[in-house]
Amino acid sequence: MKVRDSYLEKWEDIRVRDRSALSRIARPRHSGMTAATKLLDELCHLSVQSMTSLETEDHFQVVKLLGEGSYGKVMLVVHKKTGSPMALKYFLRASTSLFSFLREYNLSLAFCAHPSLTRALGIAYRTPTHYVFAQQVGLYGDLYDLIVPEGGVEEGSVQRVVSQLSGALAHLHAHGLVHRDLKPENVFLCDPAGSWVKLGDFGMVKAVGSRIQEVWYSSAYCPPEAQGARRGGAGAPLWVAADPSVDCWALGILTYALLTGALPWAETACCNPAYRRYRDWVCRRRCCCRRCCCCCCSSSPSSPSPSSPSSPSSSSSPSSPSPSSPSSPSSSPSSPFPSPSSPCSSCSSSDAWGSELSQGPGPRVAPQFRGFTPLACSLFRALLDPRPRLRGRPGDALAFLGEEWLRGEERSRLEAERKRRSGGEGLRTLSHQTSHNDSEVLA
Ligand SMILES: Nc1ncnc2c1ncn2[C@@H]1O[C@H](COP(=O)(O)OP(=O)(O)OP(=O)(O)O)[C@@H](O)[C@H]1O
Ligand SMILES: [Mg+2]
Repeated sequence: MKVRDSYLEKWEDIRVRDRSALSRIARPRHSGMTAATKLLDELCHLSVQSMTSLETEDHFQVVKLLGEGSYGKVMLVVHKKTGSPMALKYFLRASTSLFSFLREYNLSLAFCAHPSLTRALGIAYRTPTHYVFAQQVGLYGDLYDLIVPEGGVEEGSVQRVVSQLSGALAHLHAHGLVHRDLKPENVFLCDPAGSWVKLGDFGMVKAVGSRIQEVWYSSAYCPPEAQGARRGGAGAPLWVAADPSVDCWALGILTYALLTGALPWAETACCNPAYRRYRDWVCRRRCCCRRCCCCCCSSSPSSPSPSSPSSPSSSSSPSSPSPSSPSSPSSSPSSPFPSPSSPCSSCSSSDAWGSELSQGPGPRVAPQFRGFTPLACSLFRALLDPRPRLRGRPGDALAFLGEEWLRGEERSRLEAERKRRSGGEGLRTLSHQTSHNDSEVLA
């Protein structure tokens, strides 16, 4: 099942067949109406007036299909008057509410003025069967096409992509928006090598703090805090506040997938041995008294704070991460976790972060992270902290750029694998397979 299909959002289920039904469309009840959502609402009301009926062929030369989704399809077209290539995103009117269409269009138009976000181009219209809007096009496919299974992508390219995506996410977060669907197939390539990428697909975007139903899905991209919804099963839905930390988690998983061509675990679930080994590694580093180890498993329908307590310091040197970065975590006044300088009684000095970093990952490092340098391990622990409120922010990644992330041996192994497998199958099916790390941990 596709990740997106898993999300059942009440107000998006409204089916609107009537042309001018916007005023009759039920609205989501946000617990926190941000400036972004107010503006978005206003833009939707305004743009509904300028939605004209057009025949695509009168204005565009259709070149080819770029992709398909549950909502409709995306076509590569050339604007007949200007000669500009663009993507036309078609939403089936039978199954798309006018409001959700206009919301995605206006979001892409008004909040995506960033070189690594896919911006709408000011054209929205209806045909007898579809709502359509024009968007900047990534002419060279998406990130999935770039990733060689078990070989990943060359490290320099990975750092370029991570740098751009962290900027794109930081831009959305600064506007009070959470993307909630970062994955390789939603990152479009603007050149064959992937030196310039654009994050797209804003169908899942929510305002920070808005009330959403938590959904757990079987994927590494699903953050650990969603497990409450899994255990809830058929019980009452778990309502949470949309939080930017979910994007940070996805950026961490994406970074791992780009570097290695694999996922660190098949699904983020405490019953998954590979994930559990990782969680134990990270949580033990932070607090060996284990008070925190299972906090990611507890289904607390909390209202997570919009920002994590660790504030990013992109100006700090990559080799000496900022005091707020995970390699030297600070404990905020509200944090229940002790800082390494005041360890709990069961802390041993050999378990301290600094010691582990200077010695490099030893046997305690989760197996699937042993090929990374201590610097990269710090980056992963920042982006992939199982506890959302201790998780970093996408911008934290900037402090880790420019230095090596892969150990020499691992780099050579991956390079050889890329040579051997290049031109083969893509990673697109990877999330449906058992992660090789599961079997490694099980062995
Ligand atoms: N602006 C674009 N430029 C290039 N390719 C695009 C663009 N927009 C979408 N695509 C292609 O179309 C595919 C589907 O588009 P999109 O991600 O917007 O839909 P989706 O929401 O993922 O669909 P689903 O409902 O299945 O989740 C993408 O994975 C990508 O390959
Ligand atoms: Mg998509």
